[in-house]
Amino acid sequence: MQKNELKQLVQQLPKAELHLHIEGTLEPALMWRLAKKHNIALPFSSVEAIQQAYQFNNLQSFLDLYYQGADVLRDEDDFFELMWAYLSKCHEQNIVHVEVMFDPQTHTTRDIGYDVFMPGFAKAIEKAKAELDMSAYLILSFLRHMSEDSAIETLEQAKPYYSMISAVGLDSSELGNPPSKFQRVFAQSAALGFNLVAHAGEEGPPEYIWEAINLLKVDRIDHGVRSSEDPKLMTYLKEQQIPLTVCPLSNLKLCVVDDISQHNIVELLHDGLLVMVNSDDPSYFGGYLNENFYALIDKLSLSSQDIVALASNSITASFLPENEKQHWLNKIQEITSN
Ligand code: HPA
Ligand code: ZN
Repeated sequence: MQKNELKQLVQQLPKAELHLHIEGTLEPALMWRLAKKHNIALPFSSVEAIQQAYQFNNLQSFLDLYYQGADVLRDEDDFFELMWAYLSKCHEQNIVHVEVMFDPQTHTTRDIGYDVFMPGFAKAIEKAKAELDMSAYLILSFLRHMSEDSAIETLEQAKPYYSMISAVGLDSSELGNPPSKFQRVFAQSAALGFNLVAHAGEEGPPEYIWEAINLLKVDRIDHGVRSSEDPKLMTYLKEQQIPLTVCPLSNLKLCVVDDISQHNIVELLHDGLLVMVNSDDPSYFGGYLNENFYALIDKLSLSSQDIVALASNSITASFLPENEKQHWLNKIQEITSN
């Protein structure tokens, strides 16, 4: 198949997105408008200047801008707009199910509480269910540069909203903040019945992936691209089919890889690991889910079978109930058998 046909296939296939930070979908134009609305002085002279500032040399240089950007999110309507814009984009890209991370501490540390952001998210998710025929789950993510006590407090504060949350996660500055730091709060989250995910092996070593599996008992690893440095880990991930939610353009923008042509996603897939494509922070990294696929198609030799496998894996690795997974896997089969 030609590259343009492969891109059409990407657009046609129903897909799930499992690694997405809602604060990372804040487009410069919305940031600009919300700053005006709330009379916030931005350190940028125009929307274009915001865009031009998005040059990063590692995870931390991105996080500094990402937390600064999130400061324009102040009221319920802002959180609604943010979520609605993302879900509308998903609909355009034929993404039928999403599991969206949000960082409560980014907001509660600014005195913006769950009672502000959760109703905003809920309204957008309900509207998407009704009007776009898509499902969205929420993943409460703890900031790993903060203490475990703060994470425990964050979990407790979420209590009125537990029914809206399907998993907890772990994000922010990885190096120096290993999964072992969050063992208690993950055990508490498991006891409450939440699914568990954690970022590991993005900048951090394979040992962090082992810790996330053995100490935090996660269901999925976010990123995990450094697992290829550890053959025993590769065997384990393959045997256990522990999903890795891989984000190619994120890895490029944060200098985890020098070029997409050097990305290991195809090797991971061909080695039998349960990997799929995600966008992470699309507004900052230059593309939503389908653009991540297009970058892979342009720079790597990806077959139509690889694309179908990646789309199928996104459904299989989701927290959807089995009957809904089967429904979407059947749809993928129907499309590919025509
Ligand atoms: N890694 C860690 N923390 C994050 C990321 C990421 O890619 N995006 C938003 N928070
Ligand atoms: Zn991430």
